[in-house]
Amino acid sequence: MLYLIGLGIWDETDLTLRAIEALKTCDKIYCELYTANWKGSLKAIEKITGKKIQILEREIVESDLIPAEARKKRIALLVPGDPLVATTHFQLVQDAKKKRVKTTIIHSSSIYTVVAETGFSIYKFGRTTTLAYPEKGYDPQSPYEIILLNRKIGLHTLVLLDTKNNGMTISEALELLEKMDKEEILAKTKIAVAANMGSGRQTIRYGYAKDLKIKDTGIIIIPSILNYNEEEAMKLWQ
Ligand SMILES: C[S@@+](CC[C@H](N)C(=O)[O-])C[C@H]1O[C@@H](n2cnc3c(N)ncnc32)[C@H](O)[C@@H]1O
Repeated sequence: MLYLIGLGIWDETDLTLRAIEALKTCDKIYCELYTANWKGSLKAIEKITGKKIQILEREIVESDLIPAEARKKRIALLVPGDPLVATTHFQLVQDAKKKRVKTTIIHSSSIYTVVAETGFSIYKFGRTTTLAYPEKGYDPQSPYEIILLNRKIGLHTLVLLDTKNNGMTISEALELLEKMDKEEILAKTKIAVAANMGSGRQTIRYGYAKDLKIKDTGIIIIPSILNYNEEEAMKLWQ
């Protein structure tokens, strides 16, 4: 049996009761922490479940190890946020099914749902994009192209940030976007930024990019056309 279990948006208190009950029955619990900067305590989960948790690197998670072990044992993989809001994790479900291993997904809160706390209509988002740190020979402009495409069809863009180095800051991300901004969207359009969502110290701000250079990681929302309710919601964050 393979359990894919969401750790939730912030810390161990976001784990569902269903997740805790499942974890108690597992022979082995693995965890990956590379898809988000999760702020909880694995020690606390070990205490609640009475089981040790082993952190795995990306190469191991994406290898055959987990589905192969799950043929004989009850294995869980803990994933920050929702376990399927990560580009590669559905592959584990497919690999397990090919090996006739039973899989159970236990969902949890995700940046994809928590973003609704900003007041932007969750139904009006287009393609999501991720801003990555540029490297020698790697400086993708696709995030900006996605923003342009979404705006053309009246949809907002959720911009996720690189999880490396404890997470790209909103300030670094805005500077990267400003460099790509041929159409000067950031100078002319108010945007939203949000940090530490789902915690007791979350920050949501709405305004011009130059005034939102927060030194904390999080998300950026580049809006398209706002409806009346969204206009009203944005007044909360100015
Ligand atoms: C790949 S996504 C997270 C996927 C995760 N499985 C989920 O469902 O939330 C990682 C990015 O989401 C954003 N993020 C995650 N948790 C956040 C939080 N609590 N507050 C603000 N942004 C967050 C950051 O941009 C981070 O780099």
